[in-house]
Amino acid sequence: MASFKRTLITSALPYANGYIHLGHVAGAYLPADIYTRFLRATGQEVIHISGSDEHGVAIMITAEEEGITPQQVVDKYHTANSIAFFGLGIAFDMYGRTTWQEHHATAQDFFLALHQQGYLVEKDEEQFYDPEAAMFLPDRYVEGTCPVCGAEGARGDQCDNCSSTYNQTELKNPVSKLTGKTPEKRTTRHFYFSLGKFQQRLEQYVERHSHDWRDHVLQQSRSWLKQGLGDRAITRDLPWGIDVPLPGYEGKKLYVWFDAPFGYITNTKVLMNKRGDAEGGQRWWQSPDTRYVAFIGKDNIWFHTLMFPAMLMGWNDQQRGQYVLPDNVPACNFLNLEGNKFSKSRKWGIDLQDYLAEFPPDPLRYTIASSLPENKDADFTWREYQAKTNNELADILGNFVNRTLQFTARYFDGAVPPLAADSAKEADLLALLNEDLRRISNDGRGDQEAIEELATKYLNYFTHNDAVMLVALARAPHRIAQLYSNFRFRDAALETMNVARAANKYFNDSEPWKTRKDNPARTATSLNICLQVVRSLAVLFRPIIPFTSDSMFALLKLPPTETAWYSAGTLTLATGAPIAEPVILFNKVEDSVVEEQVAKLGGGGAAAAEAEKEPIHVELKPEVTIDDVMKLDLRVATVLAAERVKKSEKLLKLQIRIGDLERQILAGIGKVYQPEELVGKKIVVVANLKPATLMGQQSQGMLLAANSPDGLPTIVTVLNPDDVDDGFIVR
Ligand code: MF3
Ligand code: ZN
Repeated sequence: MASFKRTLITSALPYANGYIHLGHVAGAYLPADIYTRFLRATGQEVIHISGSDEHGVAIMITAEEEGITPQQVVDKYHTANSIAFFGLGIAFDMYGRTTWQEHHATAQDFFLALHQQGYLVEKDEEQFYDPEAAMFLPDRYVEGTCPVCGAEGARGDQCDNCSSTYNQTELKNPVSKLTGKTPEKRTTRHFYFSLGKFQQRLEQYVERHSHDWRDHVLQQSRSWLKQGLGDRAITRDLPWGIDVPLPGYEGKKLYVWFDAPFGYITNTKVLMNKRGDAEGGQRWWQSPDTRYVAFIGKDNIWFHTLMFPAMLMGWNDQQRGQYVLPDNVPACNFLNLEGNKFSKSRKWGIDLQDYLAEFPPDPLRYTIASSLPENKDADFTWREYQAKTNNELADILGNFVNRTLQFTARYFDGAVPPLAADSAKEADLLALLNEDLRRISNDGRGDQEAIEELATKYLNYFTHNDAVMLVALARAPHRIAQLYSNFRFRDAALETMNVARAANKYFNDSEPWKTRKDNPARTATSLNICLQVVRSLAVLFRPIIPFTSDSMFALLKLPPTETAWYSAGTLTLATGAPIAEPVILFNKVEDSVVEEQVAKLGGGGAAAAEAEKEPIHVELKPEVTIDDVMKLDLRVATVLAAERVKKSEKLLKLQIRIGDLERQILAGIGKVYQPEELVGKKIVVVANLKPATLMGQQSQGMLLAANSPDGLPTIVTVLNPDDVDDGFIVR
């Protein structure tokens, strides 16, 4: 048995500069909430901590775009996102803020501890400085001519035209986006975190989890480790953020990714203070019997499997209280929307608050839960939402509950009918049966064997059909718990629906509308079992659809129980207990709703949006002749291997095959693509490009990608990859 006493659950602190959308929900928050509710139901001590990530350049840029101050930005989005999460039933124990004073103190403490332990080094570097704005320019604040291809309007760290990445000081003709003036190069000093010093310990840490972490989480972590970890800058020249707590660093701030993870710790402490539990912060973070699970989206993996653990290890080296490291980091992949990536600029998305303004929370929770992107990207479509709502929630779960309650109201005076005809024996029967149900709940035998046992033993009371239902019920809590414990939430949701499916079938096969006429005792038994199953379903579905679970408890006139997981395998309703009139649990989603919602994507009616949307302003380069074009040797290539380039968020190094040639190319696509998803894919490359060196790496060719105005690349591929071989000429 596990030796931990409590489970600490965190989910990534979302940036407070935009609204939570369904991609966020699927990536971290819904799985974290489901897991928390599940653990709580099994009686475990658990807290779920998150909050707003309120520092960083991104917040400053939003402030400029919206014409308000950074503080106003974070106030606005923190409030909106708190409300949206609440509306979806994401029940954080604390949803804090990194602008809190307590948090500034936590982050500065960690900074000083790491400094004292010798894990921080200072380095001087050249950066552009805008004298008029009196500030150093973050990459996103400077533009110029690309040092590689000569394109105008290249951004501070990446060219949208040729996808090259570079240091901002390599830009030609740099212009400050703040003042439009030419910035100067100045030397600035920053702190770097010596992540490399933790290389070995991190390797051991990751490998200790080679059997319990998700494959893609392990793969990404190993791939970073394989490239070798170096120093990472953790301070910035910025006006917005947490002060660097050392003299000589006035005006500089901690890098947002350095401060944010400590928000988990701050927010826990604040919660414990609120609960009047002075030791709470320590108990939850610094006890060996705490198990820590960090929920995140896949773009946050290395920060949580390497960077944050290293920061905690660095603190732990002081020997004043050992922080627990994440025991699991069950990152989800991306959720796409109707076949495309979520994109703010293309207005391709569904904000949670907009969804909640029109629809109830549970159908969304169930739809996302039953298709979570656990092992690969998933797609949210309104058709699927409609199908899940109508065919599963309404037609299976809703229908079963409704028929059971209708029947009880109409033929049993709205009270639980007796399980056995002989009321004197009822209590004994129930006790005996529950004992058997508990025994068979997880005894490793086949279902059939257990069914035969019950059917034989209770021949005078139950039919074979009853026994089938009772065994399904008895085994559901363990079966589903097993899935949750292995972080297979999608399967857990499907398996839970299977219990409702079995219940619906049980109602049909029992034919109470027929037995009612010639065998009222039989009808009573089946309806008693059906009502018991309604209660069990209220328990088992609670982590996934808590609002509906509340309604189901209310229908049974019971207070909702939070810790009743394993009782769902037994019969607990007393004969004669009053039952409410049925209510409709799920409204069906009409076709017209699906069409309306799909049309909205892309910004207020796809067609209208097309008309309204400003077309991209195109300025063509000077004309070329067919001979110029023919000089380019464009080829189909197969990606053989891909990895990240050290110290670069954007550069991926691809080994490609072009017929009988093998080449290495670098591509600035790392923000959008993960190396693993490219292997085996056919791409198109400029094969005769003069080789170049980028960040110390050879690149012999260039991959073709379409670049959005905000610089996000989408790789150009061929429509029917099976019809082409690498080496084919493209023209
Ligand atoms: N704000 C980051 C994002 O949205 C996540 C921060 S997670 C934390 O990608 F650990 F740093 F808090
Ligand atoms: Zn360029």
